[in-house]
Amino acid sequence: VADIEADLAQILVTEQEIHAKLDELAVRVAQDYAGKDLILIGVLKGAVMVMADFVRALPFHAPMDWMAVSSYGAGTKSSGVVQIRKDLDTDLHGKHVLIVEDIIDSGLTLSWLLENFESRGAESIEVLALLRKPDAAKVEIRCKYVGFDIPNEFVVGYGLDYAERYRNLRDIAVLAPHVYS
Ligand code: PRP
Ligand code: MN
Ligand code: MG
Repeated sequence: VADIEADLAQILVTEQEIHAKLDELAVRVAQDYAGKDLILIGVLKGAVMVMADFVRALPFHAPMDWMAVSSYGAGTKSSGVVQIRKDLDTDLHGKHVLIVEDIIDSGLTLSWLLENFESRGAESIEVLALLRKPDAAKVEIRCKYVGFDIPNEFVVGYGLDYAERYRNLRDIAVLAPHVYS
C-alpha cells in the first residue's frame, strides 16, 4: 500500500464516506423500486466496488448483470470510442433497469450505453453514479442517483483505474501528476 500512497496527491472521498453515501442511495432506491422488477447493470470494470457495496445495502432481491465497455484504454482521456467487451446475459424486456457506474466524466460512456439500452425494451432506465465531474461534461446525462460531485481532476481508487492500477485502493484519491505526465 505504501507504494500506492506515494502516487496520490490527495484523498478526495474516504471509504467511510463512500459507504455512508451508498447506504443513503440504497434507501432511496429501495423506496423508488418497491414491488418492481429491478435489475442492476454494472459497467465493468470500474463499477465492481460500487456494485458490491450498493447491492448489499438493498433490502430486497436485486439481480445483477454486467456490461463491459471501455473508452479510456491506458490513457487519462476518453477516446470517445466505446467498445463492447462483454454484452449482457439478460433480456431487458419489461425490466426496470438501474445502471450502476463509478463515475460520469465526459458522459460519453453513459450516453452511448443509454442509447444502446433504450432499444432493448426496458420498462425504465435510470443511472446511479458514485461520482460525477460537472466541469468535464461533454454531454448531459440524466442521472437520478449521484453520490458526489467532484472537481475535474484524474481520480483513482475504489474501482477507478489508471492503466489498470489503483482499483484496489479503498478510498478515492487524486492521482499525482508525476505518475502520468
Ligand atoms: C471509466 C469509468 C466510466 C467511464 C467514465 O471507464 O469507469 O465507465 O470511464 O468516463 P466518461 O464519462 O468520460 O465516458 P473506462 O473506460 O476507463 O473502463 P474501466 O471501467 O474498465 O476502467
Ligand atoms: Mn468504466
Ligand atoms: Mg478505466
